[in-house]
Amino acid sequence: MKLPEIRTPLPGPNAAALVNVDRTHVSPSYTRDYPLVAEKGEGLWIRDPDGNTFLDFTSGIAVCATGHCHPKVVNAIKNQADKLLHMSGTDFYYTPQITLAEKLAGLAPWEGETKVYFGNSGAEAVEAAFKLARWFTKRELNIAFFGAFHGRTMGALSLTASKVIQKKHYNPLIPGITHIPYAYCYRCPYHMSYPDCGIECVRWVEEGLFRTTMPPQEVAAIFVEPIQGEGGYIVPPPEFHAELYKIAKKYGILYVADEVQAGMGRTGKMFAMEHFGVAPDIMALAKGIASGMPLGAMVAKSDIMVWEAGSHASTFGGNPISCSAALATIELLETELMKNAEVQGRYLMTKLQEMQKSEECIGDVRGKGLMVGVELVKDRETKERASEWRNNVIQNAFRKGLLLLGCGENTIRFAPALCVTAEEIDTCLSLFEETLSEVKK
Ligand SMILES: Cc1ncc(COP(=O)(O)O)c(C=O)c1O
Repeated sequence: MKLPEIRTPLPGPNAAALVNVDRTHVSPSYTRDYPLVAEKGEGLWIRDPDGNTFLDFTSGIAVCATGHCHPKVVNAIKNQADKLLHMSGTDFYYTPQITLAEKLAGLAPWEGETKVYFGNSGAEAVEAAFKLARWFTKRELNIAFFGAFHGRTMGALSLTASKVIQKKHYNPLIPGITHIPYAYCYRCPYHMSYPDCGIECVRWVEEGLFRTTMPPQEVAAIFVEPIQGEGGYIVPPPEFHAELYKIAKKYGILYVADEVQAGMGRTGKMFAMEHFGVAPDIMALAKGIASGMPLGAMVAKSDIMVWEAGSHASTFGGNPISCSAALATIELLETELMKNAEVQGRYLMTKLQEMQKSEECIGDVRGKGLMVGVELVKDRETKERASEWRNNVIQNAFRKGLLLLGCGENTIRFAPALCVTAEEIDTCLSLFEETLSEVKK
C-alpha cells in the first residue's frame, strides 16, 4: 500500500527557499493554507522539491479530474504543441476548438442545438453567461445565492456571495443582483426541516421576493450552483432545482447552472444538474474540463446564444492545447472515470458516515460522487461551528502528507481526482481520523 512519505520538516529547505522568493514577488492576495510546493504530480500523488510525497485529495481545487499528468492528457498536449500553440479562435478557425465545441454540444443535457463560447477560467465562463443573459433578455436584474462562489472578475464577483474579503474595497459592483438563501438544509436559513418545509426557500422567491421588491419580468437570470462548492459542498434537496426552474420559466427567466466545480463527471454524472432532473438554459464550465490546462466554456442553447459578432470574445479563449487536453479528458471521463467517481464516491461517503457514528465532531457528511463535504461541529445539538478544528485538521493532515482543503466556514472538502482508488481513500481516511483526534485535545 502506497503511503505519503514525509522526510523533512515542512516546508523542507528547498520548498522553504521557494516560498521565501514567492513571498517577495508573488501577489499577497493568494490564500495558501500551508506551504506545499508541488514539483511533480502523478495520479493522486504530489512530490515536493525536498522529496516528500503527498496524497492529494484536493486535485488542485477540483481541477485535475483525470489525476495529475494523466499520460493520455499529456500525450494530447504534446501532440498539439508540436502542431499549433495559438491562433486566436476569436479571429480564426482551428480544429481542436471546433471539435471540442461539437463534443460539448453533444453532451449538453437539453434538446436542440447548442453553441459554445470559450474563455480561460471559471470566472470568464460565468462572466460570459452574465453578459449573454443580459444580451438575450434585455433585462437588468439577476438572482444569485448567499454562499455562492462564481469567480472574482467584477461581473462574476457581483454574483459571488461567499466571503466578504472577496468583496472588500471593490464596491460598487454591478447593480441589480439580489442574493437569496440557498437550500442549506443542515442549517436551514428559515429554521425549518426538510421535507416538511415544502421547500420554503424556493416558494419564497415567488411569494415573497417577486411580490415585494423584484419584478420578475425584469429578471434576466438565476445563477445557481447545482451543488454549492466554496460555500460548503452543500447538496440541495432533490426537488430544489426543478421547483426553482419552474418559477424561472413562468417569468421568462434564464436558468444558469454554474457547473465550474461540480461538473465534468465529478459527481458521477457529466453535469451535476443531471442529478436534479433539470436542463438549464446556460452552463458555465471550467476547472475539471481540461485536467489542469486553463479553459472555461459557456455552453448555451443555440436560440439563446444569438449575440452579434464582436459582442464578446477573448484572445486566448479556446486555446488549441487546452481544447486538446479537454477532448482527452472527456474521453477518459466517458470511458472510465465518471463511473469510478460514482463508485468510489459512494465508498468514500459510506466510510465517512461510519466514522460519523464514533466521531462526535462530524456534524454532517454530504455530497455526490467525489464532491464530498464533512462539516465539523463542537456540539451536535447546537451545531456550533468548529472552524478552528477544521483549520487545524487541514494543517495536521498536511504534516502527515495528506492534502485537504476547506470550504464554507467549518467544512472539509474531499475532492480527489476521479481516478482515485479505494486504497487511496482508505489511506486518506485513516490520516483524516488521526487528525480529528489530535485537534479535539
Ligand atoms: C462554482 C464556481 N464558479 C466559478 C469559479 C471561478 O473559477 P476560476 O477560479 O477558474 O475563475 C469557481 C472557482 O472556485 C467555482 O467553484
